[in-house]
Amino acid sequence: MSSDKKRVLVTSGLPYSNGRLHVGHIAGAYLPADIYVRYLRLTGREVSFVCGSDDHGVAIMLTADKEGKTPAEVAEHYHKLQKADFEGLGIHFDVYGSTSQTKFHAKTSQDFFLKLFEKNYFEKKVTRQHYDESKQVFLPDRYVKGTCSFCGTPDQNGDQCENCGKVLDIDTLKDPISVLSGKPASVRETTHWFLDLTQFQGAVEKWLQHAEMRDTTKNYVKSLLAQGLVKRSMTRDISWGIPVPLDDPEAKGKVLYVWFDAPIGYISNTMQLCEARGQKPEQYTEWWKSPDTEIVHFIGEDNTIFHCVIWIAMLSAEGSFQLPKAVVVNQFLNIKFPDKEVEKISKSRGTAVWIGDYLAEGGNPDVLRYYLTAIAPEKARTVYKPEDLQLRNNTDLANTLGNFVNRILSFTLKHVGSQVPEIDSSLISAEDRKFADCLKSALANLTEQMNQFAFKSALETIMEFSRECNRYVDERAPWVTRKTDMERTKVTLVYSLNAIKLLGTVLTPFLPFAAEKINGCLSIQKPNWEDAAQPLKSGTEISAPGILFSKME
Ligand code: MF3
Ligand code: ZN
Repeated sequence: MSSDKKRVLVTSGLPYSNGRLHVGHIAGAYLPADIYVRYLRLTGREVSFVCGSDDHGVAIMLTADKEGKTPAEVAEHYHKLQKADFEGLGIHFDVYGSTSQTKFHAKTSQDFFLKLFEKNYFEKKVTRQHYDESKQVFLPDRYVKGTCSFCGTPDQNGDQCENCGKVLDIDTLKDPISVLSGKPASVRETTHWFLDLTQFQGAVEKWLQHAEMRDTTKNYVKSLLAQGLVKRSMTRDISWGIPVPLDDPEAKGKVLYVWFDAPIGYISNTMQLCEARGQKPEQYTEWWKSPDTEIVHFIGEDNTIFHCVIWIAMLSAEGSFQLPKAVVVNQFLNIKFPDKEVEKISKSRGTAVWIGDYLAEGGNPDVLRYYLTAIAPEKARTVYKPEDLQLRNNTDLANTLGNFVNRILSFTLKHVGSQVPEIDSSLISAEDRKFADCLKSALANLTEQMNQFAFKSALETIMEFSRECNRYVDERAPWVTRKTDMERTKVTLVYSLNAIKLLGTVLTPFLPFAAEKINGCLSIQKPNWEDAAQPLKSGTEISAPGILFSKME
């Protein structure tokens, strides 16, 4: 199990800094990554958790047009808001960079491009591109909308179909309309630099054999490969982005394709992290080029082709970086408001729950984390229902979990004292032993589930264990036995306190705020995953947490 000792670089897909974050973003690429990072740290692994905003691309330019700002202003504004939203939910990155502001980013992207150029991997081609005659600009990516020719869904962005996930281009987007003028787009010629992905089909296939990912993802990537890869332009005719670093008059005024520079943001943000840690930025290679480090990307479903095909091709072409060990993909989250149908989360249609609003209204970050993990769209799209969040809070968190922790700790404090008591081992019954076995098997199951990125199942395991805890105390009824047999009662309480210790540790990745309180009540400063099922030492100071989860009306 030498891979257990490796350091891990965990990334979350860099969000476009052109809007606020909603529950779908969080359930997709951020919360699961934070849970995994916290888990790895509990097992003693050294981890760097890297994210930052994706500031380039047409999406930001369109928002800037709409808001009457420059793309740089838009990016900076939303970068700050998004960063605050993450922090508010306890999603704590070691670095939160920005592809327009992190000082290493432009050069790292340009060097990457030049390396591929020098290796002759680009093909310079005159190509046809959508054009807006009235505005006199080229219309790449989201500047055009039209019908997906693969599945027929209308009103799709020029780069990718939201419905079938296929990449769209000038030949596969039907009836193109300029987003800028609303008029039909024309076609003009322009020169671009293409990466011939077909050359890397073998490399991607080889990587796919060993890469860890969910079955749904693997099958999807296989289907993409089966359709065959194409040549894709890595440059764009827009003004916002990283200049194409070529000494060629035809490269003038062109920028790198956003999906070329964005994933390189993982690398440039790692440089920034090294610098922030007082190291040399070049030490990023310890995370990117060392066999002692594993890389794990967390993303949303629409990012799959970019991470599992194009990024792998880019890294293979560049040649000096290691390939990711795992790509963990969550599907989209839909939403259902009372008395309405299930719908897509959409800013324009106003069908979203915004993180900023949730936090501003005093929403408990752990409760949202709990609900989003309980309904995590790991294998398929799932549905967020506001009234469900409330129900889950009241039943699972308040009645089952919070109640167990609180009643055991308060009862012990009241009738035994503020330290874990000694117990007479001759009084340990078969039921007590059975319950202690439950702790061990719960931990073993959880370890397996966490290692497989099965966070929703892991949370179910924890809740099932909490119900088991309540059954155990209800059966052993310490409030009855204390009147006749205090020594026997102490056994029940100590076994229950051990269960709380396990809960405090295994809940740390999921509900970090509540878990910290629970751990504090047992004088545990640094919880450790492997020791979670070990009994507490007698004499350990205990206290009561107060209400962990209040009921919601
Ligand atoms: N900005 C993209 C999105 O929100 C994700 C970029 S991920 C990265 O869909 F790898 F490119 F960084
Ligand atoms: Zn489609």
